[in-house]
Amino acid sequence: MTKINENYRKLPGSYLFSEIARRVAAYSEAHPEKTLIKLGIGDVTRPLAPAVIAAMHAAVDEMGTAEGFHGYGPEQGYAFLREAIAAQDYQTRGVAIAADEIFVSDGAKSDCGNIGDIFGVENVVAVCDPVYPVYVDTNAMAGRAGEYDERSGRWTRLHYMPCTAENGFSPAIPEERVDLIYLCFPNNPTGAVATREQLKAWVDYANANGAVILYDSAYEAFITTPGIPHTIFEIEGAKTCAIEFRSFSKTAGFTGNRCAYTVVPKELERGGASLNALWNRRQTTKFNGVPYVVQRGAAAIYTPEGRAQVMETIAFYQNNAKVIREGLAAAGLTVSGGTDSPYVWAKTPDGMASWGFFDLLLQKANVVTTPGAGFGPSGEGYIRLTAFGGAEATAEAVKRIKEAL
Ligand code: MLT
Repeated sequence: MTKINENYRKLPGSYLFSEIARRVAAYSEAHPEKTLIKLGIGDVTRPLAPAVIAAMHAAVDEMGTAEGFHGYGPEQGYAFLREAIAAQDYQTRGVAIAADEIFVSDGAKSDCGNIGDIFGVENVVAVCDPVYPVYVDTNAMAGRAGEYDERSGRWTRLHYMPCTAENGFSPAIPEERVDLIYLCFPNNPTGAVATREQLKAWVDYANANGAVILYDSAYEAFITTPGIPHTIFEIEGAKTCAIEFRSFSKTAGFTGNRCAYTVVPKELERGGASLNALWNRRQTTKFNGVPYVVQRGAAAIYTPEGRAQVMETIAFYQNNAKVIREGLAAAGLTVSGGTDSPYVWAKTPDGMASWGFFDLLLQKANVVTTPGAGFGPSGEGYIRLTAFGGAEATAEAVKRIKEAL
């Protein structure tokens, strides 16, 4: 009889955002007269930039000609996009990343999950708590997380790094040895950022212990505080210990287009193997590249007009974040995040449980949020709100939450 991957049986319930969608659908069905405002999953709402649209239209037209038709592209991405990324996201910041260290993909979520393919199952994995659930669930699927303990809400083999108000939502360097370290800055869900000194301490730890940092920088475009690193490769020594994940989803509204990239430096080796070569082997075997039309659209954000248009959209979302942050603070909630991040992390009132506050806001304010507990035990007592809604909807949501409180 065919055996299934038994690790899947150990996964608790459903994926966080599927569970939220289920609860919201049930509420909407029972109350069709209510208009919900969704500030739950971090999905963008603004239309694509005109430069992106023009580039995609032109690419579609090219595909309709014998000369301009593109079949399978390079699995790693087209040179025009990899070179633009290397030049503008790295070299302009004084970071020497080459085009062949960049792997274009269909999403940072997929890459964060798939990267586990190139690492042994025996590695000890460190994750923040709270954390983007993809890191935890994909390691559990791979058999790297041990058993799920219902009582603590934790996996027995994962090393959890609590990120709480007490430590400024900044994880402490482990005292014991860990092998794979997931870091996400600006952070999902807390919205915290890491300073140069903090990242340097991680890089030094990883190099000293032969660990690898898996650095999720999907929200980099939202950094406003001067001096906060935009990429881990701004830190000396990172090229021998880090892999970075970036996405066009939040930067350029590509959640429905699917385009991201992962940087694996050629200097990064473990067990005598080049991780760049291993990832290349993995991608060329299991992935056939992002559509040509989508990559042309992504490349358009590296033109001056594309850049300006994308920055305008980011400023729009940043303003929403400000409205949420200030509105909830005025309503008496303790809030953090939202300055260098599209996420606002708010403490529930009177020690209320996350899911309880989620339900209260759903029912009394008709606003969908994300319960902090869904990101891990240290997220209990918090909710996350996203700034990716419309301006009017965001202002209305804040008004409704104030009234509900
Ligand atoms: C989130 O809401 O945390 C993200 O949108 C989910 C994702 O990017 O996959």
